[in-house]
Amino acid sequence: MCGITGYTGFNQAGPILLEGLKRLEYRGYDSAGIAVQDESEIKMLKATGKVSHLVEKFEATPDFTGVCGIGHTRWATHGIPSDTNAHPHLSADGKFAVVHNGIIENFAEIRAELQKYGIEFKSETDTEVIVQLLAYNYKGNFKMALMKTIARLEGSYAIGVISADHPGTILAARLSSPLIIGIGIGENYFASDITALVSNTKNVIDMDDGEVAEITPEEVKFYDHAGREINKEIRHITWDIASAEKSGYEHFMLKEIMEQPQALKATIEPRVKDESIVLDELNLDMKKFNRIHITACGSAYHAGCVGRGIIESLCRIPVEAEVASELRYRDPIMDEKTLVIVISQSGETADTIAAMKECRSKGATILAIVNVVGSSIAKLADYCLYTWAGPEIAVATTKGYTTQVVLLAMFAVWAAGEMKTISQGAYISMVKDIMRLPERAQRALDLNSRVKTMAEKYFDNSSLFFIGRNMDYAVALEGSLKLKEISYLHSEAYAAGELKHGTIALIEPGRLVVALCCYEKLLDKTISNIQQVKARGARVLAVAHEGNRAIFTEADDVLSVPVTDPLLVPVIEIIPLQLFAYYVAKKNGCDIDKPKNLAKSVTVE
Ligand code: M6R
Repeated sequence: MCGITGYTGFNQAGPILLEGLKRLEYRGYDSAGIAVQDESEIKMLKATGKVSHLVEKFEATPDFTGVCGIGHTRWATHGIPSDTNAHPHLSADGKFAVVHNGIIENFAEIRAELQKYGIEFKSETDTEVIVQLLAYNYKGNFKMALMKTIARLEGSYAIGVISADHPGTILAARLSSPLIIGIGIGENYFASDITALVSNTKNVIDMDDGEVAEITPEEVKFYDHAGREINKEIRHITWDIASAEKSGYEHFMLKEIMEQPQALKATIEPRVKDESIVLDELNLDMKKFNRIHITACGSAYHAGCVGRGIIESLCRIPVEAEVASELRYRDPIMDEKTLVIVISQSGETADTIAAMKECRSKGATILAIVNVVGSSIAKLADYCLYTWAGPEIAVATTKGYTTQVVLLAMFAVWAAGEMKTISQGAYISMVKDIMRLPERAQRALDLNSRVKTMAEKYFDNSSLFFIGRNMDYAVALEGSLKLKEISYLHSEAYAAGELKHGTIALIEPGRLVVALCCYEKLLDKTISNIQQVKARGARVLAVAHEGNRAIFTEADDVLSVPVTDPLLVPVIEIIPLQLFAYYVAKKNGCDIDKPKNLAKSVTVE
């Protein structure tokens, strides 16, 4: 939810920390701060609002010097966004500063206890207890004090701490929140994710739960929960800084929409050999399962709704899809004959992790579909398939979603092959259609300027509806979410056949209805629903397959996308809707990459 970073070396820490925070800003952007250790004091700068405000303060503070420091960009959970609640937090004696991503669930209890000892708290945050407890526990050994402190913490954390008395040393620790160490020469780093480090080093070490890192300019030492030193492996990052930058696009979202053909290709091609789907990562006996549950949040859940349709259709096994925040508390009926598929771009979503643990406790096998390599979900799952989409920075997911859908489709074809529920002809036809998706996605992207025109025509609708049936309905869910999250317009997705059961009361003259018409088996039915809303004065923007002429007499405007297999429709059909959301938000002057109240990685409940 928040982004943290740290640096220790021979350069001034301030500019390096600020650069890292700019790259981490997608994780939270309501306030930011940095602290550096200089001589035997800790200097701190904080600003409410975006990292750019902090940069202004930094530029106006020439004596903010120091070669070891920590930084934080915040998505508020405890206490309003303010300078006081912004991280880093300082201990009452001014000796320690901490940045933290996660939630300390027992903070109230620790806070009350420390207050009894006369320790005064300045902020409303849960985080401040970490640094106050650390200072209380400190008896001359920095690492021991941190180990003792984290032993008391419940919840989740990725922490970076500096000490006025320990020049050049940063301690870092993690539990259920991502934390990566960057290895340099004579300088070392930590951060919530690779994007903050990639311009400085490509050698990283993933920290695991319960571990502590002692970072100095010369070396990084790792310790397990009992304080025993452990060895960790260095991972070399293959993508470069351009992947984490806008490469000439105005927004990350547009860049990531445009990257979809390559992202799909990277996800598909390594897994197809001689017209067969090869999932080397899966050593699964599919015959062992009698049902599948899919769980995820937000867009990943929408991808799961598509996946449910594809898997059920090809594998003839019951499949349920449910949002993780509900599943985790529902006491779901499942056992060792259940396969649970969890989907997550970030691999760090708290609700998804909790649902996954709940399912595991019931004996289910967990297969994760994840984008971020080495993320918590990837590590916790029994099996993991990576969507090779590359870094996704915009808060609104685009290439993350389409690569999830295609990987679910590939899994479905593979599983149907294993379970012998698909004919050889249908199998090969699906594989061929999957292989053609990158090229078809490119053709859908060629609608860019036409979609922009549509957005300019319809951008001022205050409330709109997305309708569709079957696969089109699953896409409607995602198209509607995309629009509302970045343009702040009220938007609802409806199964087209459900409109007449209530929602049609909201259709009035001028209301925009986006009708998804690519699932051709039910096209006639959707056209009837279009006629019903048109009869009540709605304007209709349809997305249909190229060659569908009938739709031109029904809808006010049409976006025609390349024809593909009915089960693969969502991968192509969502593309004009992503572009539509983007251009509507742009026309409305919204902050597209950092929509209000949202953050990229939702690591809190
Ligand atoms: O990282 P995850 O895929 O687990 O994230 C799940 C949702 O938080 C995410 O899809 C969210 O709905 C996006 N803002 C949608 O664009």
